[in-house]
Amino acid sequence: MKVVLTPRGVRRVLARHPWVWQSDVLELPEEPGIYPVAGRRGVLGWAMVNPRSLISVRVFHFGDADDPLAALWRNLDSALDFRRVAYRSNEQAGLRLTFAEADLLPGLVIDSYARHLVVQAHAAAWEPLLGELGERLQAALAANSILARHDSPLREKEGLERYVRPLAGATPAAALVGEGRVRYRVELGAGQKTGAFLDQRDNRLFLGEFLAARGQRGGRGLDVFSYQGLFALQMSPHLDSVELVDSSAAALAAARENAALNRAENLTFTEANAFDLLRQKERAGEQYDVVVLDPPAFAARKSDRQRALAAYKEVNLRALKLLRPGGLLATASCSHHVHEAEFYEMLAGAAADAHRLVRLRARRGQAWDHPMLLTVPETHYLKFALLEVLS
Ligand SMILES: C[S@@+](CC[C@H](N)C(=O)[O-])C[C@H]1O[C@@H](n2cnc3c(N)ncnc32)[C@H](O)[C@@H]1O
Repeated sequence: MKVVLTPRGVRRVLARHPWVWQSDVLELPEEPGIYPVAGRRGVLGWAMVNPRSLISVRVFHFGDADDPLAALWRNLDSALDFRRVAYRSNEQAGLRLTFAEADLLPGLVIDSYARHLVVQAHAAAWEPLLGELGERLQAALAANSILARHDSPLREKEGLERYVRPLAGATPAAALVGEGRVRYRVELGAGQKTGAFLDQRDNRLFLGEFLAARGQRGGRGLDVFSYQGLFALQMSPHLDSVELVDSSAAALAAARENAALNRAENLTFTEANAFDLLRQKERAGEQYDVVVLDPPAFAARKSDRQRALAAYKEVNLRALKLLRPGGLLATASCSHHVHEAEFYEMLAGAAADAHRLVRLRARRGQAWDHPMLLTVPETHYLKFALLEVLS
């Protein structure tokens, strides 16, 4: 059995994009699994295939292979090798061990929280391989525990069951993770993503280091879309106060626990819609020294792009108006449909409309353990800018 692609599907694979849509497939096996992918001139690669998914083909090996499964496991080994030093040298680390397509492991995300692994394998062909995956991870990493957290609604689109089950060891309710001087608690079977937003880890550390390097002593901070308060905790030692804002009561409860854990007594917590709250603060003429904006992906689909850009502009414009001269705005977008150039154009537009002179202090992206494939724009999704309001 093999998958036969249309000429457009062939062009896509030749251009080294691993995903082929159902509409670009001529022949598809009836059962999910691992199959060769072919055009008229022969095998182009090997893929995880799911006839029930709109993305029917996810290539993990370009070109032919005698033993495709061995090629898949080699991709896993090479992903783990890349993180091995960081994993071994820091027992408390929060680390992404595999980043799906970017590591040539379709839909497979594995995050390590203090060596408790949380696995999300959102491609049907992983299901029969999960036992072996658990064994291989254990052999390579000697993890404290491994949990398959397969509770995302996204799985239904793939025709996959939703469940949470251990793959190795006993997973505790939570792990304590270290991020620089900050300690935080990650709920291992709950919370957003696999429990934390590891893609922003290096940006959170960078913001703390930047404030230390500029000798920031005192002032007011605002962490909007705070989740469990990890940006706020990096800012806390450098400022008089930091206000956290999130619409999720559960996220703020976790943030309160993290504040207690770090003895950060200068944090306050507000459960609110960020759009409303920023508008109120602007009306009240409030002023801050550091504002963080880390919203969820406003553009889930390509067609949402314009609306998303308008929403990003609104929050950034308001945040810029709230900053004193010399103040900092750390601002991000995790929508891959909003490209980097558009993000920076939007920021420039917001600065112009707010009549603020703004210097770009740093232009960054996702943490180093979230690699990117040049030919797969979906893998470079996080934009992060540190802006300084001059006047
Ligand atoms: C990308 S996460 C923030 C991650 C966090 N900065 C970190 O580094 O861990 C986005 C957060 O925005 C919150 N959120 C979503 N829509 C919101 C809204 N309209 N107002 C306030 N918070 C919102 C979500 O609950 C989530 O915690």
